Order: sequence, then structure tokens, then C-alpha cells
Amino acid sequence: MPKVIILGQEEIEVEAGANLLRVIQQHGYDRALPATCDGRCTCSTCAVRVLKGGDEVKPCEKDLLKDKIEKNWRLSCQVLVEQDIEVEVPGYEVAEALEIEPGLLADILDYCAEHLPLAHIRSGQRITLKRLRDLRRRVHALVEGGGDPPDFEILRDLLVYLLDRDLVKEIPSRHPFTERTVEMMVQVFEKRIPAPLEEREEILTYPYYLYVVFALFFFLLGGLSIYALFVDAPLEQAATPTFTPNPEKAPWYFLGIQELLAISPNLGGFLNSIALGGVILPGLLVFFWMAIPYIEHRLEFWRSDRSQPPGRRLRERPVTVALFTLTVFLFVALIIVGTYFRGPNWEFVLPWR
Ligand code: FES
Repeated sequence: MPKVIILGQEEIEVEAGANLLRVIQQHGYDRALPATCDGRCTCSTCAVRVLKGGDEVKPCEKDLLKDKIEKNWRLSCQVLVEQDIEVEVPGYEVAEALEIEPGLLADILDYCAEHLPLAHIRSGQRITLKRLRDLRRRVHALVEGGGDPPDFEILRDLLVYLLDRDLVKEIPSRHPFTERTVEMMVQVFEKRIPAPLEEREEILTYPYYLYVVFALFFFLLGGLSIYALFVDAPLEQAATPTFTPNPEKAPWYFLGIQELLAISPNLGGFLNSIALGGVILPGLLVFFWMAIPYIEHRLEFWRSDRSQPPGRRLRERPVTVALFTLTVFLFVALIIVGTYFRGPNWEFVLPWR
């Protein structure tokens, strides 16, 4: 009798010539196959992927499935089972099967721990018994929806080793599976192996980003220290308490604040020009910068899909980029004015005069 192998689920023996849709329905695998036309080949809601076996494709299937036919999709109501046939039924893909049957992977890992020469298996990391036990624990945690993800690279390498040496059929398990199931697992794990660091779009701040920041920090510190040993700083003569130069200018990075102080009005009381220009306005500026992302969230009403964060380009974040750039320019303008356009008594002068 031919068999219908529902990938990652079970093998069902059927009478030769049985209708595939009926087999799927009788065994309860039709939750994602409404089959609304009930086999009249007009709805295409009974489509499954036939990975092995299957009879000739009917013309109405070609009409309804179009180029999906090339990817091995068939309308199950049109398939008669004359020989063994392996199908992947929507709603029961192997990725999901793994989640339904974590025991299967645990059985495979137990077999590997007991029978494989772990030290000889080629993988990105050394495979040890301790690691296998950790993998087993993590696989269970993954299925229960928590914990750290297992090392998918090791899982893939173990399964590839089993496949290469034709060992899959030796694995004892209560859960029905075939070599094809294991191949599909390899594909599932392959997709979950994190890309090498340089190809990833997002990386974790710790450790990757912090390593770079600390490396740069120490590189810069070392470079400046060595530079300071050989080159003297361009200092002016030592300050004399009895002589104050006119104008007395702060270092360039504080000149923006000094300029702000000079132009701030004196509103009296707590709001004198020193408090305003030296504390209140710069403080408000910093709070404003911190508030920009929240303001942006309110203002970006034109974005149709606000569930995804926008990118960093001007086109994607016009409000944020414009506000930030504007305030930075204003601050730089204050520094330029303070540096080049202020003379004795902090009077406005033209630098070329
Ligand atoms: S049940 Fe409608 S096409 Fe198969």
C-alpha cells in the first residue's frame, strides 16, 4: 500500500488511488486547507507542496496555481495516491512541527550524544557533551517561548553529519520523521544561523558595539598621549591675576555659551542674563534634543506604517533631522560669532577690520 508522508508529522498508509485531500482531511491536517469548492478544482484552497511522488498535473491545476506549479505546489483534491508521496501541508511546515514535537529534536540530540564521535564533527565550535546538554535545554526553552536561542550552527552541523553518514534511520524516536524531515530541519536552522557580524543589519550594543567604542577610546588615548610626549601644547603665557585681557574669551567649545550669555536679556531676579544664558537656555536646549524623538513620534502622522521605526535618512525622519540640524547650526553660529566677531568689551567687530 502506498504511503502519504505528511512532512514532519506522520506516515499514513492508504489504498492505492486514494484522494490526497480526503486523506489529509480524514487525519485532521486540513486546518489551513478550507477546500471551499470541495474538489471541483475552482478554489485552489486545498494547495499543498508535493516534495516526492504524485501523479500527473491536471490542466485545471495549471490554471489555478500558475507558476506555483514549478515550486511543486499541487491541488490536493486533484492528486491520486498511486505511490509513496511526501507532502508539506500549510499549517504543518517543519518549522512548526519542531515546535509541536520538541521531543523529536531532543531524541536526535540524545542519539548524537550517545553515538557520534563529537570531537570529530566539523563545526564552527567544538562540540562537547556539555554543549549538547545545553542545546537540549535551550531547544526546550525555545519551544516554551523563552530562554536564549540554541546554537543553530551546531544543530545544523550535527544533522548534516547524520545525513551524510546515512544515520537518520538509526535514530529511535516516538515521533514519526523521515530523512526529508531532517533535511528540512537543516534548512530551518540554516536560516536561523546569525549572519557574520559584518553582514548584519542590527547588532547588539554589548558586546559588539562596546568593544569597538572601547578599542577606539584606548587607541585615541594612546595616540594623544604619545603625541603629547613629543609636541608641546600651544599655550599662551601663564595667567596673571592682576591682568585680565580684553576681551577674555572662553575656550572655543564654551564660546557658544559665552555668546549666549552676552546676548541674553536681563529679565530681573532669577531670570538675569547670567542664569538665562549660562543655565536655563542651554539646559532647555539639551532637554529639547532629548525630547526630539518623542516629538517626532507625535508629528509623524504622514507615515502610513508607524509600527516600524523610521530609518536615519532625512527623507525618513525630516522632523528630527531638521530640528536637530537647525539647533546645531544655531549653536555653531554662536561659537563663530564669539570667536571672530567679538572684540574689546565684547563689542561686535568685523574680523577683517
Ligand atoms: S478543493 Fe477547491 S480546488 Fe481543491
